[in-house]
Amino acid sequence: MQVTPDYTTGPAAATRPDAPALTVLGLETSCDETAAAVVRRHPDGRAEVLSSVVASQQEHAAFGGVVPELAARAHVEGIDGIVAAAMAEADIGFEALDGVAATAGPGLVGGVMVGLSFGKAIALSRGLPLVAVNHLEGHAVSARLGAQADYPFLLLLVSGGHCQLLEVEGVGACRRLGSTIDDAAGEAFDKTAKALGLGYPGGPALERLAARGDPDRFPLPRALLGRAGFDFSFSGLKTAAARLAGTAETDQDRADVAAAVQAAIARQLCERSERAMADYAGRHDNRLFVVAGGVAANATVRRVLEAAAARQGFAFLAPPMAYCTDNAAMIALAGAERLQKGWVSDIDATARPRWPLDEARALADPAHKPGRKGAKA
Ligand code: KG4
Ligand code: ZN
Repeated sequence: MQVTPDYTTGPAAATRPDAPALTVLGLETSCDETAAAVVRRHPDGRAEVLSSVVASQQEHAAFGGVVPELAARAHVEGIDGIVAAAMAEADIGFEALDGVAATAGPGLVGGVMVGLSFGKAIALSRGLPLVAVNHLEGHAVSARLGAQADYPFLLLLVSGGHCQLLEVEGVGACRRLGSTIDDAAGEAFDKTAKALGLGYPGGPALERLAARGDPDRFPLPRALLGRAGFDFSFSGLKTAAARLAGTAETDQDRADVAAAVQAAIARQLCERSERAMADYAGRHDNRLFVVAGGVAANATVRRVLEAAAARQGFAFLAPPMAYCTDNAAMIALAGAERLQKGWVSDIDATARPRWPLDEARALADPAHKPGRKGAKA
């Protein structure tokens, strides 16, 4: 089995011990958003977003999903201007930066290479430390962009590619409690939306349609209900929802399908998270439950999870809407937190299409078969 080394090597040469704050440029190109941001991490841990620019690629709409080659090309074309826009919006020069953080995976490798190479070029030409950031670690810290959220906390990371429950002690210290054994929740939103003819990405459109639907009209499968552990499963729901969508004839039918699917996804997220909260509460005094990732932008999901947290005696936090879906501010913050610890990356850090956040757990106990490229999550 191939084990790729962690990118945390040696102390950051450019980290000044007397620095009042660390200002980091972040780059994100792992999927279909080309994004750059400048974030300042203050000594008390507070994050200040000086700029955050996100360009969502429109090239994929006609294909109903992200086309990797088109995505990589669009990142190449866009990254220069996006970085310039982020620096201009932050109103600082490159000499004011303390480091450059770039997503190094997981994701579509062609796109990851664009942002990572661009980050390396800036780091080399400006003599700045490079921090190769795991995209999932970016999501893990993203709630800290909007509010003070002290470590540790229990995290539900729920996006287009991932659905996991993690104990987060800080950057470099995330322990996976459970993960989806098949599809991510965002995938279930997207596939149902596609079956309803809503285009891509489907989550936000499905949420709008669901607003005028009856969530109780169509029963849907309730996977893993009451089952021990903290894993998720959405493939049965996804298939049943697509079949149901195919039978919808009127606008009201379609809205009712959307509402039923949204409710079913929220219900499973809630049930599994509540189990994890009960377990986590036995081991921690600081009871904070955080939800992050694109699906955390869904109001029903937020509401249901917030109620679950209240039932379990947990404080609840979700990132500001702009930092739920992919952005570079979360990458810059993860980079700044790593830099603050003196963790920088080698300039030859490689792009990793697969890169589990809790690598030891993923290798020992893969939720998905590891496959040729290593453990998935
Ligand atoms: O975090 P993200 O931007 O990218 C990944 O890392 O995957 O998450 C994108 C996912 C997509 O599946 C998208 O449909 C979903 O998040 N999403 C939503 C909403 N906004 C984005 N799902 C449901 N409701 C939303 N409002
Ligand atoms: Zn993401």
